Parts: sequence; structure tokens; C-alpha cells
Amino acid sequence: MRSNLGNLSRRLSTVTSRQTVRNGWTCQSCRVSQARRKLFSTTTALREAKGDAIDKPYYVTTPIFYVNASPHVGHLYSMLIADILKRWQVLKGRPAILSTGTDEHGMKVQQAAQAQDIQPKALCDTNSETFRDLAKKANIDYDFFIRTTDAEHKEAVEYFWGRLKESGYIYETTHEGWYCVSDETYYPETMIKKRVSPLTGKSFMASVETGNKVEWQSEQNYHFRLTAFKDRLLKLYADNPEFVVPKTRLAEVVNWVTNNLEDLSISRPRSRLEWGIPVPDDPEQVIYVWVDALINYITVAGYPMWPPGSEHTKGWPADVHVVGKDIVRFHSIYWPALLMALDLPLPKTVLSHGHWLMSKKKMSKSVGNVVNPFFAIDRWGVDTIRYFLIYHGSITEDSDYSNEFIVINYKKGLQHSIGNLLNRITQPKQWSVRDAVVEICGKPSDELPDLVISQKQMIEELVSKVEKHMDALNPTLALKAIIDVAFASNVFMSNAKPWDVKNESETTALNQIVFHTSEALRVVGILLQPFIPEKSKRLLDVLGVSPDRRTFEFAKLHADNDYGTSFVPIVKGAQGSLFPPLPVED
Ligand code: ME8
Ligand code: MG
Repeated sequence: MRSNLGNLSRRLSTVTSRQTVRNGWTCQSCRVSQARRKLFSTTTALREAKGDAIDKPYYVTTPIFYVNASPHVGHLYSMLIADILKRWQVLKGRPAILSTGTDEHGMKVQQAAQAQDIQPKALCDTNSETFRDLAKKANIDYDFFIRTTDAEHKEAVEYFWGRLKESGYIYETTHEGWYCVSDETYYPETMIKKRVSPLTGKSFMASVETGNKVEWQSEQNYHFRLTAFKDRLLKLYADNPEFVVPKTRLAEVVNWVTNNLEDLSISRPRSRLEWGIPVPDDPEQVIYVWVDALINYITVAGYPMWPPGSEHTKGWPADVHVVGKDIVRFHSIYWPALLMALDLPLPKTVLSHGHWLMSKKKMSKSVGNVVNPFFAIDRWGVDTIRYFLIYHGSITEDSDYSNEFIVINYKKGLQHSIGNLLNRITQPKQWSVRDAVVEICGKPSDELPDLVISQKQMIEELVSKVEKHMDALNPTLALKAIIDVAFASNVFMSNAKPWDVKNESETTALNQIVFHTSEALRVVGILLQPFIPEKSKRLLDVLGVSPDRRTFEFAKLHADNDYGTSFVPIVKGAQGSLFPPLPVED
């Protein structure tokens, strides 16, 4: 342990001394003095105030998932939201990084390994790989897959602990309380109730919030003086109302901090918990799994090898931590307080989403009422699932998962709107999208029929609507706005009836209709890329949109005069269409 810390200190000294040469920075130990840090944050603030660009990629994270069991659709949902947020930034031209991974220490994993009679590390290796496979299979464009058993992470946690100890916010005491292994947390007395198991008829104590079993524990361990941060936390929320999205959950957090804040037990005796990172200098204690886990977000960004101020270039502070509503408290109370204790920059937003339910109950590994996302993707296709989860899921509410809903969503939102529109515009011999683009693009006309004017306005307004929803971190509303334009464009075509235009003198009128329909599809295709990357690629290929004209700045009317000739053969018939019939619809 000591030698590890020694290595780390040496590596840090190298970084800081290199930095000394470049920046004239002096640092005796490898630790950054608070005064210097404050100076740096002031300089940064000044640069930001002056509008100077800061070379920081957009940094979005998913929770790191426990490896006690295989992933389910709920885990995929968090990955997917994070993926869409990242891809959206890239579409807009900003470098972005996405980090996901697995949380491998703690009682929960230790007990799962014991139950299977295997070593914890073996369980972690297998199950972590399954989470990684899921990310790949679902087209999650991740840059980092962190495991808390990685050596760099262990070093980061040990270093963090050392600084925390120096900060004076840690003390040793006897702790008594109700611990929940399933949720890996202590609950206050007020959040415990008696429950009766429907299977055995036996009663047990459980968490009011999650219904999971709790056990009385009394032990000597280290505590973090969380209560010392009450005022600073409340100020953080008051000054940054977007720190927790949505607002309703921020209100819950404020309420918790105001009424329930207690110091946090941050270690367990090794006699109870072996599978974790030992407390440096006290091998009889193991670091609490949530402290270990939260630090992953800065390990990924290079902590602690941060010369003063350089955390920005590696992405920190995170722009968004995407989490389920079950773990908001850990991310919006414990995490900022731990960072405050070390005077480190805070993440900008915790985006918490609703849960997926099966038969009205939260889908959960522990309960076992889960949908295997690998099977779902194999059966329905990756973009069908991506579309369904975002369209039917919700940031604010819980949502029911069922195959029936998948089929309904696919038919209505994809087949009958976008798929149908694409067939209608590209298949008839009576007109050509390319001819319409050549005649109309770049030559806006003042004399348009009302129908065309409203279609035009709708396309013009789409980008700002989608942008507004994405800025508010609500991919569901953004997707709905896009699909609405596909619906409305079908109605436009039905009303404008281009197939009725037979007279050659009316070619311009015909091309106006064709152009304003294909423009809707082109813009929809560009904006759909973060959501359903494979299908939108195919859509843009069929429209003949050049790959270098698929970025955000092209998502507006008349922005591309170069498209209209398909790059791929157009196959007639249902099976060849963009959204073919689903395999078995039951
Ligand atoms: O809590 N609906 O890991 P975990 C939607 N290791 N999302 C769901 C879900 C559901 N039914 N079930 C799970 C942990 N999730 C800790 C996190 S982070 C530093 C440590 C998603 O395996 C959702 O994001 O229990 C939830 O917060 C997370 O998985 C919990 O995963
Ligand atoms: Mg959980």
C-alpha cells in the first residue's frame, strides 16, 4: 500500500516539476496549495467571463454498474441517454467524451461471488465484460470503460483518501445503524419499516425507499464530516438550479440536505468486508464502496495527475452525470461534498432519469424481473430498441416496458412516419428529388402556396426546438419534436398531392412540394443521427446526402444543394424499405 502511494507521489512530482518548468510553478510536495487552486479558479473564471474558449471536451458519464449480475434494459437506458448527449455535442462540432464502466467492490459483489462459490475478481471479470459487450452491441460510443479494480483507479482512490484525511474532514468513531447491502448504504431510522416476505411469511426490516432488506450494524469505522458542508451544499443548489435535473428531484435533494444530513460512514471493518480498497495506513478498514465508486469520474479524467488547472483538458469537471433516480443522493450530495473537501471543481449537472418497470415494479437485478437487453436487440434490432427506449421512456416519470409497446412505437413512429415518407418521396417515377433540389435549393420564392409556407416554417423551427430540448437534457422531447415533423410532412404530402400534378407547366409547383418534403427528411435524418445512428445513416444514404454534409450546420432549409441521388440501390417492397416489418409481432 505504502509503496503504491510512494510511486504515485513520485509520478505526481514528475508531473508537477515538468509543469514548474513550463508555468513557473513551484510545488514542494506533490500537493497543490489551496491558495494556488483558488488563484487558478479565479483565472479560469475571468477567462470564462471574457468569453475565452476553454479547451475542454464535453464530458458525460453513466453510472458504473455493479457486477453482481448481468446488465438489463435499465442499465442500457442510462448508457443510451449518455450516448445521445455525447453524439449531440459531436454533431454540433464540440469534442466530447463518454465514460461508462463497472463498480466492482463492496458487500454486494462479495456476497454474489460467495453465493456462486467463486472468487470476487473472477465474477467481476466475467460480468464486467458483459457490460462492455452491451455497450458495444447497443452502439454506445464510449471513450472510456473504467473498472474500479483497475490499478489507476485504486491509486486515485488512495490518493483521494490521503487528501481527505489531511483536510481534517475524517474522524474515527463507532457507528450504529441500518445497513442495506443491496443499496450499499446506511438508512436513517426514519427511513426503515417492517416488511413481511410474501414467500416465507417472515418479517424483516427494510428500506422505505427501495423495499430492500436492512441489517443492524455496529462497528468502528471512519466518518466523513458531511454535515460541515450543509450550507455550501444548499448554496450550490440555490446558485445552480440546474445542478440536478429535473427540478422535482432537486427539490428532494434540498429537502434531504435540510432535514436528514448526517455524517457519512466511509469505511467498513475488514472483518465484514474484504473485497474493496483498504484504507491507506489502516489495513483493518476498507473504503466504502460508494466513495470508491464516485471517484471513478475523476480517475477517467486523469486524477490525480493533474497539474494545476489541467483537469479541463481531460474533461473535468463533468458536464453531465447521467444516473437513475435511485442514486441521485449519492451524486448530488455525497459527491459534491467530497469534492468540496478537497477543493476540486464540481460537476455541472446530475441528470436523473425515471425507472423502467416490469409489471409496475422497478426492473432490478436483485428482484430478477429484468429484460435481457442482448435478446431485445437481437430480436428487434438495435435502433428499434434505441428508438423505443428514448421515445417511450422518460426523464421525469417511470415507464412500462413491454414488447407490445415496442411494436406500436416502431410501426407508428418509424414505419408509418419516416419510412413511409421516404418511400413516398423517393419511389415515384413522376418526379426526382435531385431535379427538385437543383431547381429550388438556394432560390427561396416569395410566392408559395400556404401549404408549402407552413411546411417550410415547420422545418425552419425544428432545429431550435430540438436544440432547446437537448440543452435542457431531455432527449425524449427532442426525439418527439423530430418525429412530429415526419408525421406532419406525411400530412403535407397527402394534402399537397404531388401525384396529381400532371401538367408540365406546373413543374415548379411540383418541385416545390417534392423539395419541401425531402428537406424535411434530410433535416430529420441529420438530427436523428445521435438517436438511431444506423437507420439515420441509411436514410441519408438513400437521400444521397454527402457524409460531410451531415453535421448540425446543415440541419436547416436550403443548406445543401448537393443531394438527391441515392448512394444505395432503392429496393421496392416492404422488406427492402428502411423500416421493414418486424420479425414476429407478439
Ligand atoms: O447503483 N430503470 O449500480 P447499479 C432505469 N454501482 N435505470 C435503471 C434501472 C431501471 N429499472 N435499474 C438500474 C449502482 N438502472 C452503483 C452506481 S455510480 C458512481 C455507482 C440504471 O448496478 C440507473 O442508471 O445498481 C441506475 O441509477 C443504475 O442503473 C444503478 O445501477
Ligand atoms: Mg441498484
